[in-house]
Amino acid sequence: MDIVIEEDGIKRAKIAADVVERAIAGKDHPAIGIATGSSPLPLYDELVRRYEAGKLSFANVTGFTLDEYVGLPPGHPEGYRIFIEKNLTNRVDFKPENLYSPDGNAEDILAMCAEYDAKIASHGGVDVQVLGIGSDGHIAFNEPGGSLVSRTHPEALTEATRKDNSRFFDYDISKVPTHCVTQGLGTIMSSHTAIMMVTGENKAKAVRDLIEGPVSARCPGSILQHHPDITVVLDEAAASLLEIRDFYVYRWQTRIS
Ligand code: F6R
Repeated sequence: MDIVIEEDGIKRAKIAADVVERAIAGKDHPAIGIATGSSPLPLYDELVRRYEAGKLSFANVTGFTLDEYVGLPPGHPEGYRIFIEKNLTNRVDFKPENLYSPDGNAEDILAMCAEYDAKIASHGGVDVQVLGIGSDGHIAFNEPGGSLVSRTHPEALTEATRKDNSRFFDYDISKVPTHCVTQGLGTIMSSHTAIMMVTGENKAKAVRDLIEGPVSARCPGSILQHHPDITVVLDEAAASLLEIRDFYVYRWQTRIS
């Protein structure tokens, strides 16, 4: 795990965009796993900047979104596919037919999940997976206590997650869906490269459990300690509970690459 602690938000976005750019460079049909939430927005803005500057093209890129609420009416502004279109794919030369997302309104949710995993596998996997982490340690919508090797599946949302996400639903938790469909931890772990962005003190405990805790279903993100190529980009507040923060800074500053 590469751990980067950086106070400057523009630098954080550039470091994350470098990871994405490197992972898709030189590939004929690369695939990006795309997260929603506020954490990766600076990264998406930086990718758009590079596209506008003519340095990056998404014309041959396939996208797989991480998750989706169950039961939101089609076209709902908080639907995750719409979020990804608005914040990334519609802003660059991404072809709409190359964007795949789990269907939270599928009649047969389990069959849809199996097809989604098969689609990712038939593409040869995800080259670079963008991630955030919830305050309860979830990645995608894999909540505590689930299988560490799960594939795409339906999931119940914890009250903590629904409370966190109520900011997108007029701060009214009753409007936040109770269930979702999500790529599983096994699906995410199959990605070749991963980049996670985390900011803010409310994530500090989840970040400590992610990086320094035991690998445990109590903090689903901790499975990423087994990921062969993941970079976690933090601000100081998110890193504030790390026991050996100074070593991580030293290791990043003196890395041999
Ligand atoms: C992303 C996702 C979640 C978020 C997490 C953090 O598709 O499903 O795992 O990454 O909830 O959300 P933010 O970034 O809004 O704090």
